[in-house]
Amino acid sequence: MINNEKICFSGVQPSGNLTIGNYLGAIQNFSRYSEDYKCFYCVVDNHAITVRQVPAELRRRTYETLALYMACGLDPEKNTLYVQSHVPAHTDLAWILNCFTGFGELSRMTQFKDKSARHADNINAGLFTYPALMAADILLYQTDVVPVGIDQKQHLELARDIATRFNQLYPDTFTIPTPMLAKSGAKINSLADPTKKMSKSDENTNAVVYILDDRDTIIRKFKRAVTDSDTCVRFAEGKDGINNLMTIYSCFTGKTIEEIEREFEGQGYGTFKLAVGEACADALAPVQQRYNEIISDKAFLEAQMKKGADEASYYARKTLSKVKRKLGFVQI
Ligand code: TRP
Repeated sequence: MINNEKICFSGVQPSGNLTIGNYLGAIQNFSRYSEDYKCFYCVVDNHAITVRQVPAELRRRTYETLALYMACGLDPEKNTLYVQSHVPAHTDLAWILNCFTGFGELSRMTQFKDKSARHADNINAGLFTYPALMAADILLYQTDVVPVGIDQKQHLELARDIATRFNQLYPDTFTIPTPMLAKSGAKINSLADPTKKMSKSDENTNAVVYILDDRDTIIRKFKRAVTDSDTCVRFAEGKDGINNLMTIYSCFTGKTIEEIEREFEGQGYGTFKLAVGEACADALAPVQQRYNEIISDKAFLEAQMKKGADEASYYARKTLSKVKRKLGFVQI
């Protein structure tokens, strides 16, 4: 909280095409928060370089991610939208928090374990201390709530632990943040293996629906989605494929699971899959149109980045100088 204003913060990786999992799990919820919170949404390019990046692609994706945020309904007049490396206070505080984070704590992070298995040739210190940077992102803004997908819950808990530990040594420094996990749609699974999370880096492109996929591609991908040998559209244990499609349909249409079961009673999977594909394509069409307008106006995007970075820096500086004062750093 800053000056009685409740704060909301979240970050998104500039790492390529965002999926409907990102959209339903996090981004779509972001805009709801601007009614009640001062919101900061950050494109986390410092986090991105914990795995190797091609410079031109990182640059392109940074623009694209910001444009997509706006296209998904985040109004830059109501939210602070910016790029992490434009506000050096993030890495400044991250160093400090590294000194308040245990080696053992970082070793237990499942994302670190997964990513170090996937990038065995580059297990760098940044990948290991990634959660301390994420804690810095959040704590810099005295954040009250953090809308994230369920996969980030463990990092959030660590951020809370770091803040609590710091506050015990230096009272009243940080607000303790609360994770806000999206209710349904927090976890959208792969269309090819519905027991796994839908991942934007999946090699099988049929497993993933991207926000910017065209209508025909979306409908084709849903048509091919893996289901079971039953024929009845109903949400039940062991029906991971259908459960996942019902969740997706529910998120895009606002219908409940019971309503969906009634709607498709006596109809086969083919009809249902087509309906899911159409609902998804219909919902994404206006997002895609806005995106195409925004991405073609680079000057506008850069002006928004600059404005966002200025706003974020103003808030970040307050916390950072408080932290440094409490630590005993000489201020000049
Ligand atoms: N680690 C998050 C992810 O991979 C991105 C992120 C970085 C983030 N900093 C954050 C999310 C702060 C929430 C709050 O998705």
